[in-house]
Amino acid sequence: MIAIGSDHAGFRLKEEITKYLQCRGLEFRDFGTFSAESTDYPDYGEAVGKAVASGECEKGILVCGTGVGIGISANKVRGVRCAVCSECYSAQMARLHNDANVIAIGERVVGPGLALKIVETFLDTEFEGGRHARRVGKIMAIEDRQH
Ligand code: RB5
Repeated sequence: MIAIGSDHAGFRLKEEITKYLQCRGLEFRDFGTFSAESTDYPDYGEAVGKAVASGECEKGILVCGTGVGIGISANKVRGVRCAVCSECYSAQMARLHNDANVIAIGERVVGPGLALKIVETFLDTEFEGGRHARRVGKIMAIEDRQH
């Protein structure tokens, strides 16, 4: 199950991505927003982040104007590793090396064709493990040192 969410500035691209997921027969849960009416990106970053961190969903996809605000918001949820990506190489490496479990994309930054390739790369690339597992473990240990 994939969690997906956006604010108003990412709404149209979110719709494109949900169509793509449907075409691939992938199950997803859409956390909104459901129109282009102005709304606040942290609400969707948190909702998708929590769905992934709780294990309800394996991966999350977020869209806002830049991907930045909604990505920062998701990363505030314990257990989330969200990567903001505007090209496929970073999306691939975010999976291979960082085991990113959420991706954030900017509708105002990339066109829909590239955005779908970024999503495809994110979904189809496995974590490499090995030395990267130690480093990802160190990332997560930072959370344990917070109050
Ligand atoms: C909304 O105007 C915009 O600020 C938001 O979508 C996002 O780009 C924030 O990081």
